Amino acid sequence: PTRPTTVVAIDGPAGAGKSTVAKLLADRLGFEFLDTGAMYRCVTLAMLRVPITPSETNALQQLASDLQIELSGSVVRMNGEDVSDAIRTPEVSQAIGGVADNILVREILSDLQRRWASGKRVVTEGRDQGSVVFQDSRCKVFLVASPEERARRRVADLAQRGIDADLQSVLDQQNARDLADYSRPVGALIKAPDAVEISTDGISMHQVVDKLERLVQARLGQN
Ligand code: DC
Repeated sequence: PTRPTTVVAIDGPAGAGKSTVAKLLADRLGFEFLDTGAMYRCVTLAMLRVPITPSETNALQQLASDLQIELSGSVVRMNGEDVSDAIRTPEVSQAIGGVADNILVREILSDLQRRWASGKRVVTEGRDQGSVVFQDSRCKVFLVASPEERARRRVADLAQRGIDADLQSVLDQQNARDLADYSRPVGALIKAPDAVEISTDGISMHQVVDKLERLVQARLGQN
């Protein structure tokens, strides 16, 4: 008999603080953490390595279905190789749109996400977790922040990883990615009707996690 699956779904644009908040929340609740963006990043890295372009749709779909992606905590493995850092480069971020737009790739990764979560208690984060992949989740959050705040966080994030980035170019890239994320025909970033919108502007990530913990308790009962 399979155990019930419990999902806290966190969606929102890049840089709103989803991954930090989702990880901290998962730790507090004793849930597992699922970074679905990492899956799209793996397919993109594999595509750039072959190399193929997103317009080679058959090859891209084949690549995605053959790829073995393993996520455990913050470690990401692709066909056994640790790609935790390799998937976070600006090259991968820039090329990801063509992968995320592919409907079959989205189906493959959505299936993988549901299988990964099956029988577990999970905090998941992405763009379509509450709206598509885990539609029947009882606890959905839509995390937002102002574009400037998000770009500042991204620059600080990159600096921590030794990558020097200029605020204006990060902001430009972020605007382009927002447009792609909000307007993609399938899997677009959208707030599910039953999601709670929370802005992370001007409050610490720990304060955000406090809010989310109370929300989870209210929505899921005692855990
Ligand atoms: O969260 P992130 O920055 O690692 O996500 C990278 C890209 O992957 C994002 O711009 C869109 C895509 N993505 C998606 O389409 N669906 C998801 N559930 C997660 C990410």
